[in-house]
Amino acid sequence: MRFLSAITSILSVVSAASLSRRAPTPGTLSQVTSFGTAPTKAGFYIYVPKKLAASPGIIVAIHYCTGSASAYYNGSPYKTLSEQYGFIVIYPNSPHSGSCWDVSSKATLTHEGGGDSQTIAQMVRWTTTEYKADTSKIFVTGTSSGAMMTNVMAGTYPDLFKAGIAYSGVPAGCFMSTSNGVAAWNGTCADGRAIGTPASWAQVVFDMYKGYNGTRPKMQIYHGSADATLRPQNYQETMKQWAGVFGYSYDKPESTKSNDPQSGYTRTIYGPMAQGIYANGVGHSVSIRGSDDMKYFGFA
Ligand SMILES: *[C@@H]1O[C@H](CO)[C@@H](O)[C@H](O)[C@H]1NC(C)=O
Ligand SMILES: *[C@@H]1O[C@H](CO)[C@@H](O)[C@H](O)[C@H]1NC(C)=O
Repeated sequence: MRFLSAITSILSVVSAASLSRRAPTPGTLSQVTSFGTAPTKAGFYIYVPKKLAASPGIIVAIHYCTGSASAYYNGSPYKTLSEQYGFIVIYPNSPHSGSCWDVSSKATLTHEGGGDSQTIAQMVRWTTTEYKADTSKIFVTGTSSGAMMTNVMAGTYPDLFKAGIAYSGVPAGCFMSTSNGVAAWNGTCADGRAIGTPASWAQVVFDMYKGYNGTRPKMQIYHGSADATLRPQNYQETMKQWAGVFGYSYDKPESTKSNDPQSGYTRTIYGPMAQGIYANGVGHSVSIRGSDDMKYFGFA
């Protein structure tokens, strides 16, 4: 008996130690404070579902300006879907005043360049190791500034992500700052006056990770036609960019379908890796389509 209780108390000490090491509590939005070398102070919040899949997928869900990890956790459908499908959600939290993401500095627009994109990549790597995640099921999505960051993550870390969905953003690199400002606003881009060709926009992506020749995430881009914050021209420019990256013809898309996925929306498919959904009459807030996201990511 004595021996058994000694064993039991040793076991409970061991499990307490491993619990404190693995901070995230399943079923609760938890903060991870130590996750290797992170070049910026972006906060790392994580939702591990109570019903975690064996070899789970990961969705990185990135908030808008003035938002936060907890606001996006509460205001987006991913935590509910996470319980349904067993994937983990990473909610990064912007460290900048105004809580926009840094999508303007050279550092963030470069693979391992030392910006927010690298900090988010480090969150993904930590989670992948800690939970033995399935690297074929790692995705990124976001709204507004988070959508800009989604495009930046796809450009800077094509090796990490299998797909991205951007709700109302701008092309990767469109907010680049000539004075190398961090999390700087770029009115030229926001107003839809940064116009490029598919080749020039694709080059912006290629320059983010020079010499990379592996697979890249497939991209789905939503934008509202009445967006007064990030003008709708940004939709055209973003589609040029991903069509260009994948070598599709921007001028001759594979298909265009009205009232898809809902009345007033138009889906244009440029090829298997790039499609856009233009929401007629919708402003800057295109609602997240959670169950469609699950299909695009391959969970449903
Ligand atoms: C804004 O971005 C565009 C590229 O999209 C660039 O040409 C322009 O110089 C940037 N503006 C500032 C103030 O950095
Ligand atoms: C792709 O990049 C790797 C690493 O830089 C290089 O070894 C390989 O030769 C490249 N492959 C092609 C087809 O260019």
